[in-house]
Amino acid sequence: MKKIPVASVQIGEKEKEFINDCLNTSWIGQGGYVKEFEEKFSAYSNCKHGITTTSGTTALHLACAILDIKEGDEVIISSSTNMACAFSVDYCNAKPVPADIITNTWQVNTNLIESLINKKTKAIMVVHLFGQAVEMDHVMDLAKKYKLKVIEDCAESHGVEYKGKKVGSIGDLGTFSFFSNKTITCGEGGMLVTNSDELAKKARDFKNLCYGNKNKFLHHEIGFNYRLPNVSAAMGLGQFFKIDEIIQTKDKIYSAYNERLKDIRGFKIADVNPSTTKYIMWCYNAYLEKGVKLSREKFLGALKEFGIDTRESFKPINQQLPLQKKYGLKDDDCPNANFIGENGFYLPSGNDLNIKDIDYICDKVKEISKKF
Ligand SMILES: Cc1ncc(COP(=O)(O)O)c(C=O)c1O
Repeated sequence: MKKIPVASVQIGEKEKEFINDCLNTSWIGQGGYVKEFEEKFSAYSNCKHGITTTSGTTALHLACAILDIKEGDEVIISSSTNMACAFSVDYCNAKPVPADIITNTWQVNTNLIESLINKKTKAIMVVHLFGQAVEMDHVMDLAKKYKLKVIEDCAESHGVEYKGKKVGSIGDLGTFSFFSNKTITCGEGGMLVTNSDELAKKARDFKNLCYGNKNKFLHHEIGFNYRLPNVSAAMGLGQFFKIDEIIQTKDKIYSAYNERLKDIRGFKIADVNPSTTKYIMWCYNAYLEKGVKLSREKFLGALKEFGIDTRESFKPINQQLPLQKKYGLKDDDCPNANFIGENGFYLPSGNDLNIKDIDYICDKVKEISKKF
């Protein structure tokens, strides 16, 4: 039986050429690929500055740290997300405050944010989840009204646009992940982007241990080592050169799935708002609607028996036990995010999927859906 993985990486000649160049020249730590990757990717994201980091998580932590988020502060976050978002706030000893999502798009419901703002609120961290964009006009209005900072987590949304603006360029800071399942990858890696000269300078300083200016080893702040190695940046740059091609393939996979899966009772493809979002599928996400008789676990288990790998969607921030314990978050804080956490999933989404694979997957989804 053929096995179809949930994600895959395509490594081309450019990546190998650039990595070999690092090996042949011994520039494996820091080097020219870091700078070039930062310049190219930040320009692509319509930002003046790009600062690489070792992961999306460290980019988020760096973002929180340079915005001076600290003990006693609160940060409002899209509840349905990778826990890197909430943890990065916790690393600064501040409280992550989850905001519920809109069930059919999985994006944060910006209408709920204002009721969560109080004197302690320092920032809003939005997550452009699964290749869609959050309603940024509303977020930016709130930020202006209450003088809050905005971090955009774009880990899953390389190249995505909101009303013609690249995500990551709208708030104060944007962060990206280049983990191996991301649109382009370094294996592991991240980048912080910004149009602020001041924040960029601070980010470069903090990601590099805040070395002293005159006496290098007399550090002027407590910094971090979040430096992305040149070898990883070489991989990222090689990937970057084919980002348009990668996105075109993703678009084709998304359309092929949609055509085949759009009319299955109980099987709901996450909605996109095309009037605001230029959508770029990261992974093909869907959920089982209320009233479906088959549990998600049984549905995904049945796909697994046909060799089809899937992933459950994120368990939201409010349901994470360590965060409940530390911050008093409650199971029922975000009912829509809970629902998606219990019923959402994504299908294989690697760029090596061909039409035969997609036909096979969709036929099996339809077959199993007879039990809905
Ligand atoms: C939305 C989101 N934010 C942050 C991260 C963390 O990125 P990384 O795994 O590179 O640390 C991820 C990773 O998958 C993610 O999906």
